[in-house]
Amino acid sequence: MKNDSVRMIRENMENIPQFPIPKGFAIRNYRPDEGHIWTRIQRAAEPYIDIDDGLFIREFKRDFPAMADRSFSLTTDTGAEIGTITAWWQPDIDGKTWGQIHWVAVHPDYQGRGLSKPMMSVVMTRLKKSHKWCFLDTSTGRIPAIKVYLDFGFTPDLSRKKSQEAWTEVASVIKHPILKRYDFF
Ligand SMILES: CC(C)(COP(=O)(O)OP(=O)(O)OC[C@H]1O[C@@H](n2cnc3c(N)ncnc32)[C@H](O)[C@@H]1OP(=O)(O)O)[C@@H](O)C(=O)NCCC(=O)NCCS
Repeated sequence: MKNDSVRMIRENMENIPQFPIPKGFAIRNYRPDEGHIWTRIQRAAEPYIDIDDGLFIREFKRDFPAMADRSFSLTTDTGAEIGTITAWWQPDIDGKTWGQIHWVAVHPDYQGRGLSKPMMSVVMTRLKKSHKWCFLDTSTGRIPAIKVYLDFGFTPDLSRKKSQEAWTEVASVIKHPILKRYDFF
Protein backbone atom coordinates (compact mmCIF):
# COMPACT_ATOMS: atom_id res chain seq x y z
CA MET A 1 0.00 0.00 0.00
CA LYS A 2 1.30 3.44 -0.89
CA ASN A 3 1.22 6.23 1.63
CA ASP A 4 -0.11 9.29 -0.19
CA SER A 5 -1.05 12.39 1.78
CA VAL A 6 -4.77 13.08 2.02
CA ARG A 7 -6.89 15.68 3.75
CA MET A 8 -10.27 15.02 5.35
CA ILE A 9 -12.82 17.67 6.28
CA ARG A 10 -15.93 18.00 8.42
CA GLU A 11 -17.95 21.07 7.54
CA ASN A 12 -20.00 21.10 10.73
CA MET A 13 -19.57 20.05 14.34
CA GLU A 14 -22.98 18.43 14.77
CA ASN A 15 -23.66 14.85 15.92
CA ILE A 16 -20.22 14.04 17.24
CA PRO A 17 -20.20 10.29 18.05
CA GLN A 18 -19.73 9.75 21.79
CA PHE A 19 -17.68 6.68 22.67
CA PRO A 20 -17.24 6.15 26.44
CA ILE A 21 -13.77 5.54 27.81
CA PRO A 22 -13.45 1.83 28.59
CA LYS A 23 -12.94 0.70 32.19
CA GLY A 24 -9.27 0.72 33.15
CA PHE A 25 -8.42 3.82 31.10
CA ALA A 26 -8.79 7.57 31.47
CA ILE A 27 -8.30 10.71 29.40
CA ARG A 28 -6.76 13.80 30.94
CA ASN A 29 -5.57 17.17 29.71
CA TYR A 30 -1.95 17.80 28.73
CA ARG A 31 0.16 19.38 31.49
CA PRO A 32 2.96 21.91 30.93
CA ASP A 33 6.29 20.43 29.85
CA GLU A 34 4.91 17.05 28.87
CA GLY A 35 6.35 17.28 25.38
CA HIS A 36 8.64 14.35 26.16
CA ILE A 37 5.60 12.14 26.85
CA TRP A 38 4.03 13.17 23.54
CA THR A 39 7.33 12.39 21.79
CA ARG A 40 7.64 8.96 23.45
CA ILE A 41 4.14 7.88 22.39
CA GLN A 42 4.46 9.24 18.84
CA ARG A 43 7.84 7.57 18.42
CA ALA A 44 6.48 4.20 19.53
CA ALA A 45 3.40 4.41 17.30
CA GLU A 46 4.49 6.30 14.18
CA PRO A 47 5.15 4.06 11.15
CA TYR A 48 6.35 6.62 8.56
CA ILE A 49 7.69 9.86 10.01
CA ASP A 50 10.92 10.22 11.98
CA ILE A 51 9.86 11.59 15.38
CA ASP A 52 12.87 13.63 16.38
CA ASP A 53 13.24 15.43 19.70
CA GLY A 54 12.47 18.82 18.17
CA LEU A 55 9.21 17.83 16.46
CA PHE A 56 6.93 18.62 19.40
CA ILE A 57 8.30 22.16 19.61
CA ARG A 58 8.03 22.73 15.87
CA GLU A 59 4.44 21.48 15.80
CA PHE A 60 3.07 23.38 18.79
CA LYS A 61 5.28 26.43 19.37
CA ARG A 62 2.62 28.70 17.88
CA ASP A 63 0.78 28.45 21.20
CA PHE A 64 2.17 26.21 23.96
CA PRO A 65 -0.27 27.55 26.60
CA ALA A 66 -3.15 26.32 24.42
CA MET A 67 -1.93 22.76 24.83
CA ALA A 68 -3.26 22.47 28.39
CA ASP A 69 -6.74 23.10 27.06
CA ARG A 70 -6.51 21.40 23.65
CA SER A 71 -4.26 18.38 24.02
CA PHE A 72 -5.15 15.15 25.79
CA SER A 73 -3.40 12.04 27.05
CA LEU A 74 -4.99 8.63 27.22
CA THR A 75 -3.77 6.82 30.34
CA THR A 76 -4.09 3.46 32.03
CA ASP A 77 -5.73 3.42 35.45
CA THR A 78 -2.27 3.61 37.01
CA GLY A 79 -1.64 6.84 35.14
CA ALA A 80 0.75 5.58 32.44
CA GLU A 81 0.33 7.66 29.28
CA ILE A 82 -0.43 5.45 26.27
CA GLY A 83 -2.13 7.76 23.79
CA THR A 84 -2.17 11.37 22.69
CA ILE A 85 -4.47 13.57 20.62
CA THR A 86 -4.72 17.33 20.09
CA ALA A 87 -7.57 19.67 19.14
CA TRP A 88 -5.38 22.09 17.19
CA TRP A 89 -6.35 24.74 14.68
CA GLN A 90 -5.08 26.58 11.62
CA PRO A 91 -5.92 30.29 11.64
CA ASP A 92 -5.96 30.88 7.90
CA ILE A 93 -6.83 28.29 5.29
CA ASP A 94 -8.16 30.33 2.37
CA GLY A 95 -9.13 33.06 4.83
CA LYS A 96 -10.97 30.80 7.28
CA THR A 97 -9.94 29.40 10.67
CA TRP A 98 -10.26 25.62 10.82
CA GLY A 99 -10.15 23.31 13.81
CA GLN A 100 -7.68 20.50 13.28
CA ILE A 101 -7.32 16.97 14.62
CA HIS A 102 -3.59 16.82 15.07
CA TRP A 103 -1.17 13.97 15.80
CA VAL A 104 -3.34 11.06 16.96
CA ALA A 105 -1.47 8.07 18.39
CA VAL A 106 -2.11 5.05 20.57
CA HIS A 107 0.90 3.08 21.81
CA PRO A 108 1.18 -0.16 19.79
CA ASP A 109 0.73 -2.27 22.96
CA TYR A 110 -2.78 -0.82 23.25
CA GLN A 111 -3.91 -0.58 19.63
CA GLY A 112 -6.85 -2.62 18.36
CA ARG A 113 -8.94 -2.12 21.51
CA GLY A 114 -11.14 0.71 20.34
CA LEU A 115 -9.27 3.35 22.36
CA SER A 116 -8.91 5.95 19.61
CA LYS A 117 -12.66 6.52 19.31
CA PRO A 118 -13.12 7.74 22.93
CA MET A 119 -10.11 10.01 22.33
CA MET A 120 -11.77 11.34 19.18
CA SER A 121 -15.04 12.00 21.06
CA VAL A 122 -13.16 14.11 23.62
CA VAL A 123 -11.13 16.06 21.11
CA MET A 124 -14.02 16.70 18.71
CA THR A 125 -16.13 17.95 21.62
CA ARG A 126 -13.29 20.32 22.52
CA LEU A 127 -12.97 21.52 18.91
CA LYS A 128 -16.69 22.24 18.82
CA LYS A 129 -16.26 24.83 21.60
CA SER A 130 -14.05 26.96 19.34
CA HIS A 131 -14.69 26.00 15.73
CA LYS A 132 -17.50 25.57 13.22
CA TRP A 133 -15.65 23.14 10.96
CA CYS A 134 -12.50 21.08 11.12
CA PHE A 135 -10.03 19.09 9.07
CA LEU A 136 -7.13 16.72 9.42
CA ASP A 137 -4.18 15.62 7.33
CA THR A 138 -3.35 11.95 7.15
CA SER A 139 -2.08 9.42 4.60
CA THR A 140 -3.39 6.39 2.79
CA GLY A 141 -1.16 3.92 4.64
CA ARG A 142 -2.97 4.72 7.89
CA ILE A 143 -6.05 2.59 7.34
CA PRO A 144 -7.20 2.25 10.99
CA ALA A 145 -6.94 6.03 11.40
CA ILE A 146 -8.92 6.75 8.22
CA LYS A 147 -11.61 4.25 9.28
CA VAL A 148 -11.98 6.10 12.60
CA TYR A 149 -12.11 9.51 10.89
CA LEU A 150 -14.80 8.29 8.47
CA ASP A 151 -16.79 7.00 11.46
CA PHE A 152 -16.53 10.51 12.92
CA GLY A 153 -18.04 12.04 9.79
CA PHE A 154 -14.90 13.31 8.08
CA THR A 155 -15.07 13.18 4.28
CA PRO A 156 -12.35 13.22 1.61
CA ASP A 157 -11.15 16.66 0.51
CA LEU A 158 -11.12 16.05 -3.22
CA SER A 159 -9.81 19.52 -4.02
CA ARG A 160 -6.32 18.30 -3.08
CA LYS A 161 -3.83 17.26 -5.74
CA LYS A 162 -3.99 13.57 -6.77
CA SER A 163 -6.76 12.94 -4.27
CA GLN A 164 -8.88 10.87 -6.65
CA GLU A 165 -6.12 8.23 -7.03
CA ALA A 166 -5.36 8.27 -3.31
CA TRP A 167 -9.00 7.79 -2.29
CA THR A 168 -9.54 5.08 -4.90
CA GLU A 169 -6.76 3.20 -3.14
CA VAL A 170 -8.35 3.74 0.29
CA ALA A 171 -11.78 2.69 -1.01
CA SER A 172 -10.30 -0.59 -2.23
CA VAL A 173 -9.45 -1.43 1.39
CA ILE A 174 -12.14 0.26 3.51
CA LYS A 175 -15.76 -0.42 2.60
CA HIS A 176 -17.35 2.53 4.28
CA PRO A 177 -20.79 4.11 3.61
CA ILE A 178 -19.17 7.57 3.28
CA LEU A 179 -16.84 6.34 0.53
CA LYS A 180 -19.74 4.70 -1.32
CA ARG A 181 -21.10 8.21 -2.03
CA TYR A 182 -18.17 8.83 -4.36
CA ASP A 183 -17.21 7.39 -7.69
CA PHE A 184 -13.99 5.73 -6.53
CA PHE A 185 -14.60 2.24 -7.80
C1 LIG B 1 -4.65 5.56 14.39
C2 LIG B 1 -4.58 4.80 15.68
C3 LIG B 1 -4.52 5.80 16.83
C4 LIG B 1 -5.86 3.95 15.83
O1 LIG B 1 -5.71 3.16 16.98
P1 LIG B 1 -6.80 2.09 17.43
O2 LIG B 1 -8.07 2.71 17.85
O3 LIG B 1 -6.14 1.17 18.37
O4 LIG B 1 -7.09 1.38 16.06
P2 LIG B 1 -7.86 0.02 15.81
O5 LIG B 1 -6.86 -1.04 15.50
O6 LIG B 1 -8.85 -0.24 16.91
O7 LIG B 1 -8.61 0.37 14.48
C5 LIG B 1 -9.52 1.45 14.37
C6 LIG B 1 -10.61 1.05 13.41
O8 LIG B 1 -10.03 0.71 12.15
C7 LIG B 1 -10.47 -0.57 11.75
N1 LIG B 1 -9.42 -1.23 10.98
C8 LIG B 1 -8.20 -1.59 11.43
N2 LIG B 1 -7.51 -2.18 10.41
C9 LIG B 1 -8.32 -2.14 9.33
C10 LIG B 1 -8.18 -2.58 7.98
N3 LIG B 1 -7.05 -3.14 7.55
N4 LIG B 1 -9.21 -2.38 7.12
C11 LIG B 1 -10.34 -1.79 7.53
N5 LIG B 1 -10.54 -1.36 8.82
C12 LIG B 1 -9.53 -1.53 9.68
C13 LIG B 1 -10.78 -1.29 13.05
O9 LIG B 1 -11.68 -2.38 12.85
C14 LIG B 1 -11.38 -0.17 13.87
O10 LIG B 1 -12.70 0.09 13.52
P3 LIG B 1 -13.94 -0.43 14.45
O11 LIG B 1 -13.59 0.04 15.84
O12 LIG B 1 -15.12 0.26 13.89
O13 LIG B 1 -13.92 -1.91 14.30
C15 LIG B 1 -3.35 3.85 15.73
O14 LIG B 1 -3.43 2.98 14.63
C16 LIG B 1 -2.01 4.56 15.70
O15 LIG B 1 -1.53 5.07 16.70
N6 LIG B 1 -1.37 4.57 14.51
C17 LIG B 1 -0.03 5.14 14.35
C18 LIG B 1 -0.07 6.65 14.29
C19 LIG B 1 -1.01 7.15 13.21
O16 LIG B 1 -0.94 6.76 12.07
N7 LIG B 1 -1.90 8.07 13.61
C20 LIG B 1 -2.81 8.72 12.72
C21 LIG B 1 -2.19 9.99 12.27
S1 LIG B 1 -3.23 10.84 11.09
